[in-house]
Amino acid sequence: MAKRKTVYMCQECGYESLRWMGKCTNCNNWNTFVEEVKQPKRAAGVGVSPSGQASKPTKMNQIEYEKEERITTSMKEFNRVLGGGIVPGSLVLIGGDPGIGKSTLLLQTSAQIASKKLRVLYISGEESLQQTKLRANRLGMDEEELYVLAETNLHNILLHIEQLKPAFVVVDSIQTIFKEEVTSAPGSVSQVRECTMELMKLAKTKGIPIFIVGHVTKEGAIAGPRMLEHMVDVVLYFEGERHHTYRILRGVKNRFGSTNEMGIFEMKELGLQEVLNPSEIFLEERSRGASGSTVVASMEGTRPVLVEIQALISPSSFGNPRRMATGVDSNRVPLLMAVLEKRVGLMLQNQDAYIKVAGGVKLDEPAIDLSIAISIASSFRDQPTNPEDIFIGEVGLTGEIRRVSRIEQRVQEAAKLGFKRVICSENNLDGWNYPNGIEVIGVKTVHEALRYGLHTNEQNEGYTM
Ligand code: TYD
Ligand code: MG
Repeated sequence: MAKRKTVYMCQECGYESLRWMGKCTNCNNWNTFVEEVKQPKRAAGVGVSPSGQASKPTKMNQIEYEKEERITTSMKEFNRVLGGGIVPGSLVLIGGDPGIGKSTLLLQTSAQIASKKLRVLYISGEESLQQTKLRANRLGMDEEELYVLAETNLHNILLHIEQLKPAFVVVDSIQTIFKEEVTSAPGSVSQVRECTMELMKLAKTKGIPIFIVGHVTKEGAIAGPRMLEHMVDVVLYFEGERHHTYRILRGVKNRFGSTNEMGIFEMKELGLQEVLNPSEIFLEERSRGASGSTVVASMEGTRPVLVEIQALISPSSFGNPRRMATGVDSNRVPLLMAVLEKRVGLMLQNQDAYIKVAGGVKLDEPAIDLSIAISIASSFRDQPTNPEDIFIGEVGLTGEIRRVSRIEQRVQEAAKLGFKRVICSENNLDGWNYPNGIEVIGVKTVHEALRYGLHTNEQNEGYTM
């Protein structure tokens, strides 16, 4: 009798080892090895190309290409994150915390596509038909072309897809699906990998777009091998704070469009509703005239979004002052504080600093530097900023304000929402048209920006700033 070969496989990175190990030598994670039956190796060289045809080298200029017809849903935010709709034959992975609304989002999308007389198959490995129906009822859906399948066996799933010939498929979730030949449990690295591979083959050969839901680990990454994200065409994360009703759909990888696009939704009684004016929402609860608060126009993909950045600076009671940041890169905070200390003369070294981006958004472009710096100075000096000002600029180590991209779009968005002044880099002043009703002020240094930005009063004159 042939001996069953098992190996230990790291559930994080897919590294194989003959022995169990406490720590993965490949990805350095602890306690990630699980015993799995070794899969027979496929013979080399008999693969199919990603398009499903037999592969051969082709001259680039002879490749035939027709403009692909994307399927669009009635949710503009959703289309935009995907780069303008769903590409036929694409494999899209959506990850997110449990209960964040992945199933709701995909069921709504399915219904919208079905309402265009396109056949849709929604496969649920987590909920029964009745549960899905219950949810559909709540969402007020009653589409003729929407089919639901409660199934976890990959072979049956593939069979049904072949028979039904849908134009759009959702698999909720990849961690519940299993392939019989693979003996390890559903959700294990080999199962997830094999099932995704099969779904990819199907998507590419039949040209059916397939959306798969992926669970996330407690660190927030999509569970299963990292390879999963490399295999699929698009990776989206559906995020949000449990206590807020806002949900953000973020592109992390997109072979058909720009990443870092973000779509904003609100979870309502009747499902998810897109939010088309995010700036208004993010500024809704702003405390105007409070010290330590500024507004920045940040680019989220191709769209400018206005967001409030808050800072709280208070004397530290311990030797090591704390620096905490939510929503911005925490390494930038000490850096900007050092610039303020050295170039402006603010004594921040024994101050605790807390920085927060209001509304639970994450910003990661350098154009928000100036806004963070002004918020810090404003809180430290306890001088409010003008609520009708907006700050845009990257701060360099010598305290200089540097140019940012797409200034025109940012300023237009600010003007649209009633802001009266923009304070930005002097180098950003030329080559574009200023919108009406907004004054654009160019500055060279943080020092100069503070002079415009902070409300001065007599007591503060003479203070070295
Ligand atoms: P769900 O889509 O099941 O999350 P996931 O698939 O990501 O685990 O979302 C469930 C949550 O959404 C649940 O907490 C209830 C809430 N919800 C609403 O607020 N309104 C609705 O119309 C629906 C369907 C769900
Ligand atoms: Mg779900």
